[in-house]
Amino acid sequence: VAFFNAKKKLLNKHFLVTAGPTYEKIDPVRFIGNYSSGKMGFALSEALADEGAKVTLVCGPVSLQTTHKNIVRVDVESALQMKVACEQVFPNADGAIMCAAVADYRPKHPADQKIKRTRDDMSIELEATDDIAATLGKLKTDRQILVGFALETQDELANAAAKMKKKNLDFIVLNSLQDKGAGFGVDTNKITILSDGNKAEEFELKKKSEVACDIVEKLAAVLAGK
Ligand code: CTP
Ligand code: CA
Repeated sequence: VAFFNAKKKLLNKHFLVTAGPTYEKIDPVRFIGNYSSGKMGFALSEALADEGAKVTLVCGPVSLQTTHKNIVRVDVESALQMKVACEQVFPNADGAIMCAAVADYRPKHPADQKIKRTRDDMSIELEATDDIAATLGKLKTDRQILVGFALETQDELANAAAKMKKKNLDFIVLNSLQDKGAGFGVDTNKITILSDGNKAEEFELKKKSEVACDIVEKLAAVLAGK
């Protein structure tokens, strides 16, 4: 039996993946969100599952579907709900990939009733959400792997390296904005992987499914060294 599975790198492993945006309630009919499609997180979940791993995919509101038998999907809406789900799953996992575009701020006092259009100007007070990756970074044991993403518009490598350290990540995937084929909504991505010791590995522009395989290969190699 082992023979048939010889090529699968992540058999008997379990990973948490976060994907998509979060929605932060303003009132019963409005929210603060972002353009994340969830495509990269779903592609990663499928690449992990294809290597034989079990995946718990915690995702914000997305219009994607997955049918892989190794993927269990947990749907959430807000950053707080995503954090609670992740804290529950992570202690029993071999690692996590933090791919979600989590809102950094949420309305401090969401309204119970629909806000009426009675004023000329209007502002909403916001408060910071919890950093889910950093929360898991504090929970992480030596045998677990934690991977994050970064999107930067300046000092890309230095900022990504700082994020990796601050959140206690094993490596961080930098999304390059330089390229029009990379980022939100599209099916392609261009990444650089930064790991401990700050060796930067640059990859070509590829389909997100292929980028996912590159990331999973790196994850399997780092995990094997733990
Ligand atoms: N992340 C998270 N929880 C948050 C914010 C970010 O888990 N509340 C994760 C993302 O999923 C990603 C990594 O942290 O893997 C970096 O996200 P990013 O938005 O680039 O970094 P921030 O720490 O939020 O810093 P900033 O937005 O100010 O650049
Ligand atoms: Ca952010």
